Amino acid sequence: MVRVLLLENIHADAVARLEAEGYQVESVSSALDEAELIERVQGVALLGIRSKTKVTAAVLDAADSLVAIGAFCIGTDQIDLVAAAAKGVAVFNAPFSNTRSVVELAVSEIIALTRRLTEKNAGMHAGVWDKSADGAHEIRGRRLGIVGYGNIGTQLSVLAENLGMHVSFYDTADKLALSNAHRCASLEELLETSDVVTLHVDGRPGNAGFFGADQFARMRRGSIFLNLSRGIVVDHVALRDALAGGRLAGAAVDVFPHEPKGRGDEFVSELRGLPNVILTPHIGGSTEEAQSDIGDFVANKLVHFVHEGNTTLSVNLPGVALPQQDGMSRIVHVHVNTPGVLAQVNSILAEHKVNVEGQLLSTRGEYGYLITDISGGYSDEVLDRLRAMDQTVRLRVLS
Ligand SMILES: NC(=O)c1ccc[n+]([C@@H]2O[C@H](COP(=O)([O-])OP(=O)(O)OC[C@H]3O[C@@H](n4cnc5c(N)ncnc54)[C@H](O)[C@@H]3O)[C@@H](O)[C@H]2O)c1
Repeated sequence: MVRVLLLENIHADAVARLEAEGYQVESVSSALDEAELIERVQGVALLGIRSKTKVTAAVLDAADSLVAIGAFCIGTDQIDLVAAAAKGVAVFNAPFSNTRSVVELAVSEIIALTRRLTEKNAGMHAGVWDKSADGAHEIRGRRLGIVGYGNIGTQLSVLAENLGMHVSFYDTADKLALSNAHRCASLEELLETSDVVTLHVDGRPGNAGFFGADQFARMRRGSIFLNLSRGIVVDHVALRDALAGGRLAGAAVDVFPHEPKGRGDEFVSELRGLPNVILTPHIGGSTEEAQSDIGDFVANKLVHFVHEGNTTLSVNLPGVALPQQDGMSRIVHVHVNTPGVLAQVNSILAEHKVNVEGQLLSTRGEYGYLITDISGGYSDEVLDRLRAMDQTVRLRVLS
C-alpha cells in the first residue's frame, strides 16, 4: 500500500487522482512544522506540500519510506533539494500550470491600459462623467514587444497576434519565432519600436535591476510597460519617473522587489497613487483553473514516478524517461556520479545472466540515475550486489 500525506489543503483533483490509484491518502489542511512533520512522515511514500511546509534534511532523515515529494506550486525553495537527491527522493513541481493565467492577465492589462480604463473607472467612482477619447486606443495594429520568449512569452505572442497586434520579441537564448512574430536583434531595437513592452524573463541573478532608466528612456513616448515576471528585474524609481515624465502612458506591475509577507500587511511602493497604473499583488498565476491544473499535473507526475521511475521534469534528479514495455522488470538505480558505475552495474547483471532489454542513464551534478529493463527473472543476490555498491544511493525495483 502506497501511503500519501498531503499537507496545506491540496486540491481535491489531486486527492482523487491519487486515490484512484488505490493509494492511502491522508489530507491535512494546514502546513506542519518540522517536529510534527518528522513524526507524520514515517511510513509515507509520497509527500505533497505547497509553499509553507519546509522539508528539511532532518525531515528527510526521518522519512524512512519516502519515494517522492510533490510541490503543488511553482517554487521549490522550501525543500532541501540536495538532501532529497542524496536520499534518492525525487521532487516534482508544476512549473507550467499557471502560464495561461499569467498570459490572460497580461492581455487584459494591455487592453485596459491602452484604453485608459483605470482612469475612466476611477473618474466614474468619483462621480466624473468624461466621455473623451483622448489617449484611448485599440490594441489592433499596435506592436507588442515581449522580453523573454519562454513559456509565458510565447503563449502571449500567439494570443496577442490573434487579437490583431504585431509582435516583436527579444530573448538572450535562441528562440523560434511563432507565427509572424519578429525576433529583435537587440533589446534596444525592441524598446525603440514597440507600443507596449512586457517583461517575461526568469529570475537568474544577472537579471536583477536589468530594466532601469536607460531602458525606459529608449522606449517610445506614450508607450506602455508591464512586468509580471520578477520584482527584482525593474528599478521602480526609474519606472515612476518614466510615468511622471510622460515617457510612459501607463504601466501594470504584478511583482515587486519587496512583497508583504501576509494578507493585510501594508504594501509600500513608489508606484502607489499614480494614474493609469495597475498594481496587483503577485496574482498573475493565481486562478482556480491554475490551482486545479497544479493538482492534476503534480499528482500525475507522482503516480508515473511510482510506477515507471521516469524523472522527466524532476527538479533535483537527472531527467530520464525510458518507455515501458510489457512483461519487463525495471530496476532504478540512483547513484553517486563517479566514473565506471554503468560498467559495474552491467558486469553484476552479466555475471548473473540477467537479460537487459533497455537501459538509460543520465547524470546531474553529483548524482546519476539509471533505469534498466530486464526480461526473465533475477535473483535476490543481483539486487543485494547492486545495493552493496559503494556508489548506490537507492535501488527501486518496479515491475
Ligand atoms: N506573476 C506571476 O504570478 C508569475 C507566475 C508564473 C511565472 N512568473 C514569472 O514569469 C517569468 C517567465 O516565466 P516562464 O515560465 O515563461 O519562464 P521561462 O524560463 O520559460 O522563460 C524565460 C525566458 O526569458 C529569457 N531571458 C532570461 N533573461 C533574459 C534577459 N535578460 N533578456 C531577454 N531574455 C531573457 C530566457 O532565455 C527564457 O526564454 C518568470 O520570471 C516567472 O517566475 C510570474
